[in-house]
Amino acid sequence: MQYFVLLALLAVRTVSATVYTDPSQLPAFKKYDYIVVGAGPGGSVVANRLSAKSSNKVLLIEAGSTTDIDPTIDVPFLCTGLAPNTIVDWNYTTVPLPGLNGRSIAYPRGKVMGGSSSINYMVWTRGPTSDFDRFAAVTGDRGWSWEAVSQIGKNIENLVPPADGHNTAGQIIPSIHGTNGPVQISVQGYPTDLDSRVFATTRELPEFPFNEDTSSGNPLGISWSQFSVGGGIRYSSYVAYIQPILSRPNLDILVNTQVTKVIKTGTVRGVPIFTGVQFATSAAGPFHTLTATTEVILSAGAINTPQILMLSGIGPSAQLSKFGIKTLVNLPDVGQHLQDHVVLPNVFTVNATFTQDDIARNATLIAEDYEQWALYKTGQFATAPTAEIGWGRIPANSAIYRTVDDPSSGPHAPHFELQWAEAFASFVQPTPATGHYLMFSSNLVSPTSRGSVTLTSSNPFAFPSIDTGFLTSAFDIFAITEAVKAAKRFMAAPAWKGYVTGRYEGTGFADANTDAEIAEYARNNAATVFHPTGTAMMSPYGANHGVTNPDLTVKNTLGLRVVDASVFPYVPAAHPQFHVYVIAERAAQLILENL
Ligand SMILES: Cc1cc2nc3c(=O)[nH]c(=O)nc-3n(C[C@H](O)[C@H](O)[C@H](O)COP(=O)(O)OP(=O)(O)OC[C@H]3O[C@@H](n4cnc5c(N)ncnc54)[C@H](O)[C@@H]3O)c2cc1C
Ligand SMILES: *[C@@H]1O[C@H](CO)[C@@H](O)[C@H](O)[C@H]1NC(C)=O
Ligand SMILES: *[C@@H]1O[C@H](CO)[C@@H](O)[C@H](O)[C@H]1NC(C)=O
Ligand SMILES: *[C@@H]1O[C@H](CO)[C@@H](O)[C@H](O)[C@H]1NC(C)=O
Repeated sequence: MQYFVLLALLAVRTVSATVYTDPSQLPAFKKYDYIVVGAGPGGSVVANRLSAKSSNKVLLIEAGSTTDIDPTIDVPFLCTGLAPNTIVDWNYTTVPLPGLNGRSIAYPRGKVMGGSSSINYMVWTRGPTSDFDRFAAVTGDRGWSWEAVSQIGKNIENLVPPADGHNTAGQIIPSIHGTNGPVQISVQGYPTDLDSRVFATTRELPEFPFNEDTSSGNPLGISWSQFSVGGGIRYSSYVAYIQPILSRPNLDILVNTQVTKVIKTGTVRGVPIFTGVQFATSAAGPFHTLTATTEVILSAGAINTPQILMLSGIGPSAQLSKFGIKTLVNLPDVGQHLQDHVVLPNVFTVNATFTQDDIARNATLIAEDYEQWALYKTGQFATAPTAEIGWGRIPANSAIYRTVDDPSSGPHAPHFELQWAEAFASFVQPTPATGHYLMFSSNLVSPTSRGSVTLTSSNPFAFPSIDTGFLTSAFDIFAITEAVKAAKRFMAAPAWKGYVTGRYEGTGFADANTDAEIAEYARNNAATVFHPTGTAMMSPYGANHGVTNPDLTVKNTLGLRVVDASVFPYVPAAHPQFHVYVIAERAAQLILENL
């Protein structure tokens, strides 16, 4: 396995000619057919697929640096250390959120090759069939339906053995996964004290059935987790889609460079063409420009893509004029409808002699685990820190349905997610110096609350204002309260006797008993699952609402497309990275078909 390190080093050396680290290095004579902005799952896929055709000249511009800036990016277990406020994070925070009792929360976004897929927690999930079918329904494009995209999804995956090589029979249904795609995926690696108890509970409580594979299109139930991890390393969009093609002569990559706007380069029958990009490395400049001969693809993610559009004069005219930006295309929905999942980590105290808490407290153990990972890509560090995963619905006879329609996409779509980790986890409390813990989160995945991304300045290097709107609707507070109650019922099953000793006091969980107390506890402890979507949402051709057409072109423009998590009209009821890859694979097909 040491070869891997060697190969990676060699790869970096042989291709340095196409990775530019400063705009001044770009040869003046170079012309590009396509300029792709952002190297997360959206941009990495598009850059790969378009440059697979050797006549296409492609430039990929990424604001962050190459991944060697932090070697722990590759280490699955260390993912939680990559944000917030690190050299690979944009360091955003939200505005004070009324639904979270006025708290501002950290809002990590990856700023490095691979984007947020280089800092994410690698959970690999597919949403329910009805989520995709709803995309098809609200965009008027059958091409987004589950039936149409499921083969695309399968082709993204390469199912490989877990890090410890254990037999996964009964833990995943291999036939529904791909085995030839760029993204290696695997079932969770090393066993934890939780595994046998979680699955014993699925036999004890009919309310929580076992689901052999929650990626089947019907995610309801409890299953082993799947991760974008292969051979003990993180499979980011960089590792999966860019690293293997670094030697393509028709692909150039420019890192450490922020696109500051797209530029109008002409007009056809009154419709503006936006094939120019402006970029710089700091607010002080210098500002460079380049024009793509065919198209610019914005894949800067659900926060930065709307920011770039607005800086370019594409957005809500009232907001743009406040910052002296001339409106070129009035699209009121740019930056609006931000939708994200709410995480609520519930901490239980456990009767154990060793949990992952002990790793964080022991520098010797960290060094040993790291060395084992570095040499063999095995051991604790070769697997992600979360264990099992489950998806559930609030009861069908819930009182909330007297006043609110079910916001989920269908009867197999979850309202909430359950996730376990064998360690303390909180976004508001530091990890205690002693004790053993279990984190069992209840996350809201079918929110009705929406927020926005708005400009704070015409300076492209100023942070935008982010309002997630968390827990501002009656449904959302009801559903997260029900999710906490479900989590409590789960952990009260006989399987946990003698192991779970109580609910943690420091976060207020121990005292959250009535619905009102649980709601208050949720407002005080909730944070983001890091899944923003919707800020450049798709809508049918010709619709007055929405930002992008079903083929992801920006409405009322030419030469400009958005390919990233911004385009989802609803946040998928799943961890979204799979969905972003799907969007991007189909976008690339659509672009190539147009030629
Ligand atoms: C901490 C964290 C944990 C997560 N955990 C999971 C998980 O376990 N499972 C899951 O499915 N999803 C997870 N996600 C979400 C998932 O990673 C994202 O949904 C996905 O990466 C979105 O892809 P994207 O291409 O839309 O944007 P991103 O991945 O955010 O990529 C955008 C890229 O554009 C670059 N960029 C931005 N602005 C500019 C500019 N002006 N000029 C040039 N480049 C620019 C950024 O630096 C970045 O590289 C997590 C996210 C985070 C942050
Ligand atoms: C984020 O914070 C880290 C740590 O302070 C810093 O090194 C990095 O430059 C910051 N990034 C941005 C985009 O502000
Ligand atoms: C830390 O880990 C090392 C190596 O596994 C072990 O020998 C030692 O006892 C641990 N220290 C504590 C305080 O648990
Ligand atoms: C803790 O676990 C041990 C065995 O693992 C058991 O003997 C003991 O009774 C447990 N303690 C409590 C308080 O449940």
